[in-house]
Amino acid sequence: MTTAFDWESIQKTALLRDELPGELAPFALSSGEGLRHHLGDWHVTTMARHADTGGEFSLYRIALPGGSNSPFLSVPGHSFVHVVEGEVTVTFDGRSHRLIGGDSGSIPAGTRFSIAGGAAFNSLFLYSTEDWLHRLAGDAGEETGAHIFSRRPASSVSALLRSELVDGYGVTIHDGSDISSGASSSDGSSVGGTAATRPGNHLPDGEVPFVNAAGHGDRYETFEQMNTYPVRARNTGGRFFAMDTRGAKTPYIPLHFHQEHSENFLCLGGRVRLHANGEEVVLAPGDFLHAPAGTIHSFSLAANNTHMLGLLTPPVFEPFFEYMNDPTEEYVHVEGGEPHFPAAGFAKAQAELDLVVVGPPPES
Ligand SMILES: [Fe+2]
Repeated sequence: MTTAFDWESIQKTALLRDELPGELAPFALSSGEGLRHHLGDWHVTTMARHADTGGEFSLYRIALPGGSNSPFLSVPGHSFVHVVEGEVTVTFDGRSHRLIGGDSGSIPAGTRFSIAGGAAFNSLFLYSTEDWLHRLAGDAGEETGAHIFSRRPASSVSALLRSELVDGYGVTIHDGSDISSGASSSDGSSVGGTAATRPGNHLPDGEVPFVNAAGHGDRYETFEQMNTYPVRARNTGGRFFAMDTRGAKTPYIPLHFHQEHSENFLCLGGRVRLHANGEEVVLAPGDFLHAPAGTIHSFSLAANNTHMLGLLTPPVFEPFFEYMNDPTEEYVHVEGGEPHFPAAGFAKAQAELDLVVVGPPPES
């Protein structure tokens, strides 16, 4: 898929901070910034909409209390979830999966699934190729200045989603009786079936729903850094892939841009230092930066044990991490040894992939 937007004009667009641009532009959000709504007992922070990404994706932080339990629903577009904290039970295909911090899930369009919160406090990031949750939260939810769910919500998300208010968003609510073994109770265990299980540890070949345990996925390592695909283009119908990066402090990579694909950075731990169209931004956990195609950028891992997640779409850049890294079955990077920049892999990426280098690594 090629996108029609003008990457040359994006290079002249200043980075916007702490607000959504409403048009395709590079922007950064501090943790908690974005559009905030109570949606039943969920707290939804919209961090990117189609209006901000040229229709490529939307991104949300969802916080939900223990006992929150959605009905079975199916939604438009491909969804990818990354659990940050607590215990989130995701049920599909008659099985309940207990997800904890670092676990993820890939949910193709039309999959019947439910989400339940099992700990006192649960939060996750949800990426979607569609805009349904932003539109639903804006119309059926209650705008709020708060950054956390209400102590005493007006309704549960289940009651709200089952109301006529949600008609017209492409969301279908299913009676749970047709998936009796998968219905989950408020404590996160399943009703009438086997207990919720921990996720598996390998990515399937096709576009099927799956969950992936923290640290698992297709793993590649380079000097003091582990790069893991928790979902790949083959799992998303060619819409996107995600990259989960953990590592020690690393210097900036060369300044570069992409002509076809957008890239973004969600800090999950440590600090990520970024350059975007000439401005420097340091991301702390929960902070986000979106770099649409054209944005001149570079990043570095600026703290020990830095952890970040990125969604790259369209997924033309997927081979980059294989060119720049070595496959591994390990879970953690190794610290120490001689610093090593994989110059051969970088040259191959420049020759073959959507990568235009415009300068040396920026001064930090
Ligand atoms: Fe890049």
